[in-house]
Amino acid sequence: MSALWPTASRFELILFRTLLYVGAIALAAAALAWLHAPMAAMWVLIAGLAALVAYHATYLARLHHWAALPRQRELPFGFGSWGHAFDRINRHMRQDTNERAETSAELERLHAAVDLLPDGLVVLDRFDHVQWSNRSAQDLHGIFGTRRPIDHFVRQPEFLAYLRDGDFSRSVTMALPSTPGHRFALKIVPTDDAYRLLVTRDITETSRLEQMRRDFVANVSHEIRTPLTVVAGFVETLLDMELPAEERRRCLEMVQKQTATMQRLVEDLLTLATLESASLPPEHTGVPLEPLLQAVVADVRALSAGRHPIALQIESDAGLRGTPAELDSAVRNLLTNAVRYTPDGGTITVTWRVVDGEGVLSVRDTGIGIAAEHLPRLTERFYRVDRGRSRDTGGTGLGLAIVKHVAQRHHARLEIESRVGYGSTFALRFPSARVANAASLKAAAERPEDESSDAGDPAQPLTA
Ligand SMILES: Nc1ncnc2c1ncn2[C@@H]1O[C@H](COP(=O)(O)OP(=O)(O)OP(=O)(O)O)[C@@H](O)[C@H]1O
Ligand SMILES: [Mg+2]
Repeated sequence: MSALWPTASRFELILFRTLLYVGAIALAAAALAWLHAPMAAMWVLIAGLAALVAYHATYLARLHHWAALPRQRELPFGFGSWGHAFDRINRHMRQDTNERAETSAELERLHAAVDLLPDGLVVLDRFDHVQWSNRSAQDLHGIFGTRRPIDHFVRQPEFLAYLRDGDFSRSVTMALPSTPGHRFALKIVPTDDAYRLLVTRDITETSRLEQMRRDFVANVSHEIRTPLTVVAGFVETLLDMELPAEERRRCLEMVQKQTATMQRLVEDLLTLATLESASLPPEHTGVPLEPLLQAVVADVRALSAGRHPIALQIESDAGLRGTPAELDSAVRNLLTNAVRYTPDGGTITVTWRVVDGEGVLSVRDTGIGIAAEHLPRLTERFYRVDRGRSRDTGGTGLGLAIVKHVAQRHHARLEIESRVGYGSTFALRFPSARVANAASLKAAAERPEDESSDAGDPAQPLTA
């Protein structure tokens, strides 16, 4: 029964109490009347009812007063039925306050998170007036305050035309004066209701990669088209004309040279692709440099065919921590360049030494040298100082790009010093963390095969 009272009928309880009071007053008055005291009965009736009305009127007035400014005023304290009613209102008010505090904390967290977004976000109303903006949008477009039209802040004609056209399935790209050198994509995202969202995204990196991709495809196509045109020309000549044996042989040699160039191009591209996708060189496996350098120098001596004395100076018994195949490829490219760009009789020196903890692997030649203005661009793909000369010697312009890649993967710097007519020095400087001292090399050599297998095989070609 007690469980029934508060839930089932608080309203009925109040009504019942009021009726009880009225009944009690009436009963008291009736009793007095029955005892022949009619005046007293009337006074009891009047005073009782007046007290009841005064009680309710007082609390009604207090409630009215409080309800005019419920947030500023204290809820009145009450007795009896009014006490219960005020308790209930108080409970609801507390719940409401807690919910409000939670909602506003949630909203604040949301705002803080949206402010951290690198993309600019602006909420626009149906008249394209700013309703709200995050910090990135304020920085990018100089937005301040609200209720101002968006074209007040973003005045670029491309954007105004985009806003006018109303085709929001696409975005519009443009530069913004607040961030020189960057490209941005602006997109309006309509929402279900009257509001819409303006999203501003920095697409500099994407545009740069897209441009690089286009340049790369154009370069590769160009590099392949040149030898291909030569091959096609000679093949046509051989098919159409009856040539003397000597002439025929010369044509076929040219075809062979061009196909070798194309082959090298494909190999170098594959090497670069492997370098870009392979996992980083191991940092714990020491590679002894002496056998590696001796093998490369022996191959390059064969290429030079005695035209250049090639000296190998090993000044340290330390090695390097990294991938042997990549280090082999880097040194091979530097040495091949030295042979190709050094006139007969010029000398080439390969040196390995450790200076102040840094491992320095350098290739010095007394060749044609490189003018200073070319040095910053030398490691770009397909960049050659003398296109004709490089091509004549079968160069693809990818060699130094490969060297730079290998250097970066081993946290090394590639330094180039050169003087036209005097020669060049290409030095790879490895940080001390990449230098493996003789003791660790010896320990690694004594370890069983499978433990040191991640060092790779120097004889293994880098290309897939
Ligand atoms: N030792 C050097 N002396 C003079 N010029 C050099 C030397 N090494 C490189 N160069 C210049 O730098 C350019 C780029 O070299 P890179 O090795 O990238 O390409 P390449 O030698 O032309 O072709 P490949 O991809 O076959 O190596 C060369 O074309 C050449 O002009
Ligand atoms: Mg080269």
